[in-house]
Amino acid sequence: MAPQRHVEPASVASTAVFHKDLFKGKVLFCTGGGSGICKAMTEAVMRHGAHAAIVGRKLDRLTASAKELSDATGNQCLPVQADVRDPKQVQDAVAKAVEKFGRIDFVICGAAGNFLAPISKLSENGFRTVIEIDTLGTYYTIKATLPHIRVTKGSYIHVSATLHYRGTPYQVHVSAAKAAVDATSTVLAVEEGPHGVRSNVIAPGPIGGTEGMDRLSARDASGKKQTWGGPLGRDGDVGDIANATVFLFSDAARFITAQVIVVDGGCEHVRPDP
Ligand code: HXC
Repeated sequence: MAPQRHVEPASVASTAVFHKDLFKGKVLFCTGGGSGICKAMTEAVMRHGAHAAIVGRKLDRLTASAKELSDATGNQCLPVQADVRDPKQVQDAVAKAVEKFGRIDFVICGAAGNFLAPISKLSENGFRTVIEIDTLGTYYTIKATLPHIRVTKGSYIHVSATLHYRGTPYQVHVSAAKAAVDATSTVLAVEEGPHGVRSNVIAPGPIGGTEGMDRLSARDASGKKQTWGGPLGRDGDVGDIANATVFLFSDAARFITAQVIVVDGGCEHVRPDP
């Protein structure tokens, strides 16, 4: 008989564990911060006193999210429209953030594209598009922010995935893009460590209520979304990723760099049914 599962409730607020003023005076620059996981990561950092610039393609969504984040946290959030596939737009976004806040301490490279498509059907442009958003977008963001991060001896978090640890069908574009993101973070950590800069990756597993999961989840015959059923018996929620973010940006993680932190409730270690 299967063991009885203890199912934890949704994640606790990081403010119940970490000091509320942990990031007072700090500034976060977050691509993809207008929605989903990256918005929750931004909110958590702001709840600990930081201001933030959130970057994305859709200004209306960014503006609404920035207001929501400011109202919820009492700190300032600047919406900046930019397509991370264009290095000039990323440079301009960084300039706007620095003009507004005077510094950047933390960077989240989170802008990502995703859809399901088998190699045989995926178009060349479809593959290129995801590489451009995820991989090149990450590189352009690093390039544009690094001079500011060196000054503050700041820290990067790159949002990756666990898809590329195995051959995940219909995800060749994302798997290739995220493998490159992981490698980029490692080199960044090694090159910039001597300047006091840290770089880590968070690899989320199945996180409920996000656009990504909504697009990628398998459904049963009735159309109901299926959970991945990891050891903890639930999908994660965005708060789980937000809490890992607060920890990694905090001084509690000051000896952690060049790492990939998998936040997936142990899903990666479950042997699939034969
Ligand atoms: C096949 C597709 C496609 C689909 C786009 N393409 N969607 N091919 N199936 N569903 C192809 C198009 O046909 C086109 O190729 C090329 O990709 C570019 O598409 P466009 O729509 O013209 O580009 P754009 O408007 O820039 O949008 C592309 C996109 C978007 C950003 C990739 O489609 C998208 O995926 N948006 C969702 C963003 C998202 O959910 N982000 C969260 C990711 S979460 P052709 O050849 O026709 O010109 C995540 C976590 C993973 O990654 C882990 C979860 C467990």
